[in-house]
Amino acid sequence: MARAQARFVCQRCGAAHPKWTGRCEDCGAWNSLIEELARERVPKGLDRQDGRALDFVGLTGPSLLPPRRQTGIAELDRVCGGGFVAGSAVLVGGDPGIGKSTLLLQAAAAIASAAGKPAGAGAKSDNAASAAYITGEEAIDQIRLRALRLGVEACPVRLATASNVRDILSSLDRADAPDLVVIDSIQTMYLDTLDSAPGTVSQVRGAAQELIRVAKQRGFVLILVGHVTKEGVIAGPRVLEHMVDTVLYFEGERGHRFRILRAVKNRFGATDEIGVFEMSDQGLVEVPNPSALFLGGRQAAGADAGGESDDQSDGSGSGLVSGTAVFAGIEGTRPVLVEIQALVAPALLGTPRRAVVGWDGTRLAMIAAVLDARCGLSVGANDIYLNIAGGLRIAEPAADLAVAAALLSALSETPVPADTVVFGEIALSGEVRPVGHTEARLKEAQKLGFAQAWVPRSGDKRRGSAGAAGPATVRMAHLSDLVARLSPQRASRPRTGAPAAARLGRPVGAVS
Ligand code: TYD
Ligand code: MG
Repeated sequence: MARAQARFVCQRCGAAHPKWTGRCEDCGAWNSLIEELARERVPKGLDRQDGRALDFVGLTGPSLLPPRRQTGIAELDRVCGGGFVAGSAVLVGGDPGIGKSTLLLQAAAAIASAAGKPAGAGAKSDNAASAAYITGEEAIDQIRLRALRLGVEACPVRLATASNVRDILSSLDRADAPDLVVIDSIQTMYLDTLDSAPGTVSQVRGAAQELIRVAKQRGFVLILVGHVTKEGVIAGPRVLEHMVDTVLYFEGERGHRFRILRAVKNRFGATDEIGVFEMSDQGLVEVPNPSALFLGGRQAAGADAGGESDDQSDGSGSGLVSGTAVFAGIEGTRPVLVEIQALVAPALLGTPRRAVVGWDGTRLAMIAAVLDARCGLSVGANDIYLNIAGGLRIAEPAADLAVAAALLSALSETPVPADTVVFGEIALSGEVRPVGHTEARLKEAQKLGFAQAWVPRSGDKRRGSAGAAGPATVRMAHLSDLVARLSPQRASRPRTGAPAAARLGRPVGAVS
């Protein structure tokens, strides 16, 4: 038989190439190809023997809902669709240091202690819940110290350090396997049957395959931790995404305390669901009401001004800064209010700068272009900075109108009224398009004390239901309606400083 041919596998995307190149032709990553030995096995034709005939069945029939194991950490359970499904594999990805180990140690402790009760009829008897935490990254002492800090040191979590998958399988592939197994992290695990180094694509893939096989066989929940590195030097968990049942991403801005757990794939539940946590000195704390958190600073700023509004809300028209708008968004099934902040400044050098945190830069360029082309402004000629407060990342097109409001407010130095939420999608024609979940957005706004909502004109179906009690809606059919509301003339009313129209030296022409 011919000698097994070497192949070069991109550590970023997993593509295999016959020869080394500096740049992966598939994903464009530089310096990411590493030589790996191909499997010796050569696939043979199947024409010799007959396989076993399949038993086809209908679409209806008895099907048990998978038994779920709840951690009692509500934010985590909801993101998983109501708890971890027994026999499933979950990948938890995220940047190093974001808090994956902390979250999973808390989850393992919760499962192992009385909190981890099985939900659903088909589950095992409940006092059998046991959890194992296998780490290839940290020493036992480090984990113990963390457990002490989290206050879970008394929970009967089985702890071990290991990185050889053979050892791990010998401990797990048995009748008394734990109900939940955390592998921290999959990049440190290796199969001794493969030649490549731990962390390479083939090792990560091979190790995960073996672990998932045993998890399915023994019916335990397998949680794999995976690091995402920007450089793609270590195999990111991307290659694993199609192998596991659920993919959760743990994200957050470095400087912020807030962490967001996001389901990007879930065979047993909805995706786009988020769980919000706050990193405290005793581990991760659930944040059941994220809107209050993302608007935290804003409420404090409004409260001391003592307006006519109650302290839950905002202090309408007092001490307001222009360039912010509150967006009533939907994350998964849950409405979340966030503040969108914009800064527009004259561009001093040739090409205007764009800096966007938490939103899509292309979409910002589009909105600036629509404002210019359809409303006769010159937004695009300025430097634009856009920030989503609190470290949240928004993907909804429904944020368009709120972004436009923040931009226009910054441009005209006219604050958006503090008791107002904004949502709506913007078409290239400048038309404001309807978005889904109007009712839920308005309800959340009302709960947080907002009295007004700027919404798309059509598509509001809330008349006749409980909607009458919600915030007063201002309907907008076209972006020019928004421009009219945020033109400098209207600004003179609540502001304390000089009227915005008196400010000179701006190269921009706000519509009057
Ligand atoms: P860690 O869970 O180790 O991150 P990962 O496993 O994703 O690499 O935790 C990372 C950070 O969290 C670390 O910088 C310290 C901080 N931290 C707290 O602020 N409070 C705590 O109670 C714990 C355990 C960690
Ligand atoms: Mg860790």
